[in-house]
Amino acid sequence: MRLTRIPARATWPLRQLVLRPGLPVEACAFPHDEDEGTFHLGAWADDALVGIASVYAEACAQLPAARPFRLRGMAVHPDRRGQGVGAVLVAEALSGVKAAGGDLLWCNARTSASGFYVRLGFAVVGEAFELPGIGPHHLMHRPP
Ligand SMILES: CC(C)(COP(=O)(O)OP(=O)(O)OC[C@H]1O[C@@H](n2cnc3c(N)ncnc32)[C@H](O)[C@@H]1OP(=O)(O)O)[C@@H](O)C(=O)NCCC(=O)NCCS
Repeated sequence: MRLTRIPARATWPLRQLVLRPGLPVEACAFPHDEDEGTFHLGAWADDALVGIASVYAEACAQLPAARPFRLRGMAVHPDRRGQGVGAVLVAEALSGVKAAGGDLLWCNARTSASGFYVRLGFAVVGEAFELPGIGPHHLMHRPP
């Protein structure tokens, strides 16, 4: 498996398959995808994109930080889960944040995935909350 930075549009098929099933591809463009400071990571196996993650220079109202970054759009192809792809993507996101001078990486994690983030050193803040149309989430964070 290898990791590269990819353009925002390259994330759309996996976002659609994993994170926005049944929704049109336009629902897979996230705010700030094209901002300076945003980067998108792709994990490749045999020239197939098997995992994605996106990182935004974005503050979180509940987590004061000098240079905060947000992790979004984490998705691993269903056939490739449990093989360390997600962990490698998060490690690369953390090193990208560190290289950019960041002091915080936060995310709104689906409660079904919060155990994944805990394994990778993230802490939960507060109670679970509902994101309309997507489901229950936890605010989570860790230093890079
Ligand atoms: C969550 C997701 C990104 C994890 O990717 P993955 O490649 O399967 O994860 P990894 O194989 O790298 O797992 C790393 C560790 O986390 C654990 N883990 C993975 N998914 C988990 C989950 N949902 N709950 C608890 N632990 C989990 C693994 O067992 C592994 O633990 P280990 O180090 O003890 O072996 C992937 O399952 C996915 O795309 N899920 C659907 C979309 C989603 O929920 N995205 C996150 C939105 S916030």
